[in-house]
Amino acid sequence: MERTGSEPATVAIIGAGNRGADVYAEALGRRPDAVRIVAVADPDPARRDRLADRHEVPESGRFDGWASLLARPALADAVVIATPDALHLGPAREALARGYHLLLEKPIAPTLDEVRALAAAAADAPGTVTVAHVLRYAPFFQALADVIRGGRIGALVGIQHTENVGHWHFAHSYVRGNWRREADAAPMILAKACHDLDLLRWWVGRPCRSVASFGDRRRFRREHEPEGATDRCTDGCAVERSCPYSALRIYQERFAGERGWPVSVVSDDPSPTGVRRALETGPYGRCVYRCDNDVADHQVAILEFEGGVTANLTVSAFTEENTRTVHLMGDRGEAIGHLGLGEIEVREFVSGERVTLRVGSGEDGHGGGDDALVDDFVARLRGERTGPAASSLEASIESHTMAFAAERSRREGRVVSLASLG
Ligand SMILES: NC(=O)c1ccc[n+]([C@@H]2O[C@H](COP(=O)([O-])OP(=O)(O)OC[C@H]3O[C@@H](n4cnc5c(N)ncnc54)[C@H](O)[C@@H]3O)[C@@H](O)[C@H]2O)c1
Repeated sequence: MERTGSEPATVAIIGAGNRGADVYAEALGRRPDAVRIVAVADPDPARRDRLADRHEVPESGRFDGWASLLARPALADAVVIATPDALHLGPAREALARGYHLLLEKPIAPTLDEVRALAAAAADAPGTVTVAHVLRYAPFFQALADVIRGGRIGALVGIQHTENVGHWHFAHSYVRGNWRREADAAPMILAKACHDLDLLRWWVGRPCRSVASFGDRRRFRREHEPEGATDRCTDGCAVERSCPYSALRIYQERFAGERGWPVSVVSDDPSPTGVRRALETGPYGRCVYRCDNDVADHQVAILEFEGGVTANLTVSAFTEENTRTVHLMGDRGEAIGHLGLGEIEVREFVSGERVTLRVGSGEDGHGGGDDALVDDFVARLRGERTGPAASSLEASIESHTMAFAAERSRREGRVVSLASLG
């Protein structure tokens, strides 16, 4: 689509779920002078119309799926692809062929072959691909990059990075929810930690050479079910009050009165009655020991980068907090960061000085990353300067490849060199 410089850029949203509607459409809607949503595709009519009504998308811009939207000649400058993991490659390839720019949700695709197919499609296309590695854009992670780039800890030698998924969050997404089965989504290390691998690659600034990884589905299995457990937490389970994963504890207590995520995923009706009904009938009320989940619930990956920098990444369901913690080790100092607290302590060896940087806090909107990513995406569409975190498709493919290597290592019990993935 031709557009003159001062007009708002135009965007079509493909997938009007949590990310497409609640995150991206909302963020785009807050920038009316720069960008306008002109079309939406989702097979769910309620979701489609909710987004379209809120952003004044006309009837002619409402489609029942990505295929029908993309069957038309390009009707916007860009598309946001926020469909489920296994439904990224189809619309992405078609949108590139139609000349759109893409904001593509992570993971690019659930398999390495599909990721490579996307790379091939992008290589021949005029449009750009922004992969939604939102954490890069969060002030907290940028501050860690600045600590490294500014030489404050000398030469970076090692990184210890933990993704504390949070017991309730893991139960929500990876035991009861959309990412519980690899065949329907992706390996957990890719689905949950491709952001973290992207950060590691970004901070080190060199390619990863090899990976070793361990982990499995340890606890969320039938054999760990306590006596007295029932199919659903609402069925009169004898141990519901003492179960950390109780759906009633999570959705009716921890998130009581919440209308947004994760309650919006559980039920379109966020009232107490609506949530209760969803727990009695839908996937989110199921006993965590009796689900059809198969993804790992804890995993470690040890990575070696060119130049000898090492990193270890731990991803675990078994944490109270839902946050990331980081320890950067350099030859002249170290930096220890806690995303939830929004704090990074930089300790310099020679002076003995300890400085605490305060850089925003919380996991809301990925620590501010969601909004900043949208700013960069819109700038890219308008041909304006992008910020320091702006990534490339090549960089995202590299960090996805690290996840595939980790998964292969975990399954095959051996160190996997990235070069061996071909
Ligand atoms: N960047 C991040 O940090 C982040 C965080 C969460 C999720 N995600 C990713 O975002 C993507 C979407 O996740 P979500 O939580 O919004 O899921 P969701 O299930 O809430 O939304 C997906 C939407 O896609 C729609 N859809 C299905 N088939 C379609 C089709 N043929 N055409 C158009 N729409 C179709 C569904 O009806 C649904 O509304 C996933 O790939 C997920 O892994 C990324």
